[in-house]
Amino acid sequence: MPITTLADSNPIKLCVVIVGLPARGKSFISQKIVRYLSWLSIPTKSFNCSTNLIQQLKESNTTANQLFNKENTPNHEILNKTRQLTLDQILKWFTEIDNCGVAIYDGINATKFERDHINKTLSDNNINTVFLESYCDDQSIIDVNITDIESTSPEYFNSVSLQDTINSVSNKIQFYDNVYETLTASEESNLSFIKLINFSSQIILNHIDSYLKSRIVYYIMNLHVKNRYIWLSRHGESQYNLEGKIGGDAALSERGIKYSHKLVEIVDKYIPNHDRLEVWTSTLKRTQQTAKYLPFPKKQWKALDELDAGSCDGLTYDEIAEKFPEDFKARDDNKFEYRYPGGESYRDVITRLEPIIMALENQENVLVITHQAVLRCIYAYFMNVHQEESPWMSIPLHTLIRLEIKAYGTEVTRIKADIPAVSTYKEKGTSKLGESNNSLNIMSGSVISGITDKIVN
Ligand code: G3H
Repeated sequence: MPITTLADSNPIKLCVVIVGLPARGKSFISQKIVRYLSWLSIPTKSFNCSTNLIQQLKESNTTANQLFNKENTPNHEILNKTRQLTLDQILKWFTEIDNCGVAIYDGINATKFERDHINKTLSDNNINTVFLESYCDDQSIIDVNITDIESTSPEYFNSVSLQDTINSVSNKIQFYDNVYETLTASEESNLSFIKLINFSSQIILNHIDSYLKSRIVYYIMNLHVKNRYIWLSRHGESQYNLEGKIGGDAALSERGIKYSHKLVEIVDKYIPNHDRLEVWTSTLKRTQQTAKYLPFPKKQWKALDELDAGSCDGLTYDEIAEKFPEDFKARDDNKFEYRYPGGESYRDVITRLEPIIMALENQENVLVITHQAVLRCIYAYFMNVHQEESPWMSIPLHTLIRLEIKAYGTEVTRIKADIPAVSTYKEKGTSKLGESNNSLNIMSGSVISGITDKIVN
């Protein structure tokens, strides 16, 4: 049966137009929205004005320092061309996608005049618009953003020194400060907008008139920029794992119980501030038994339960291949979309994990003990793993995964307990278990530096 997704139920074309002076975290917010909506299977793309500006500067034989130097007469032609080019790219992209999509116009969009032009152009092309302003007058946030900008804005990738970057960004801020008009409901009452003040200490909303826009608002409200860790682990090896069966609510095997003890030691050694740790489990026995000896507050989430295998629950892959050969093949052909009869697909799991992601964006010091399929989905969100790839990632048992969430990427560290466990990994085209050299490793993803520490028993 076809599955209705957020994209299908909201068949709209939406452009999120970012507004804000330089060093206000605009690209960070844009990239986060891209990652979140893509994870929900909504085609989303960010269009960065800086990339087009670099091109225009090259063609005009000018440098950014000349352009934004307050002693020089402003060269409006370069800036106007840059804006038009970005808008044209967005319009072109919308003609290429069918159904629903979200474009992010990542630019400064400093004046009412510019915003009015963008709004009219998009509306004439039947594209919905929401402006998203990052307004910030907290100098400490701006200073951090200026030092981060070298790694985020293509304009500064080739800076000769940090001081050079700081000078250039400061010139640019001064240049735009003179013309910048913040969004207000009284001056631009017709616009749909979200205004973030000092990141998200205050949020002002105007005409948030669709479900998709309200999802974006809710998501942004949960974001913060602080570097932090999230800890993930599968449950210890279970009796069902030993028998090669999927699903069920089996207890831990002897080695699984060993892991539950070992986890206390690993947490103690590797998790800083573990006195403030919170442990989240599913409602299933094997995750709770794994968390049993951890002396921290615990929360059970139904949303963390394993992918429901429906009528295949309790079977081995060999048995599924024999009893339901068509289903077995259909799942291999499209593992992300395939839904077990009476059960779930990976897409279904992502839908139910949304509140978990919101909570994880909002929190630090959380250890999530859950299941293979669920961990793949959570990992895919943080590591930007494509939906076709994510159900095929190998996530071994008896391994603690540390995600270090930084403003502009996530780093992964695996901490392996030296306690053997069976492999529960099934490759495409076989019903046998076990990783081969072709298996997609957990380390796939976009922004990674992986370290593996081995703990001797
Ligand atoms: O069925 C439960 C498994 O954890 C999901 O694994 O998607 O690789 O079959 P699978």
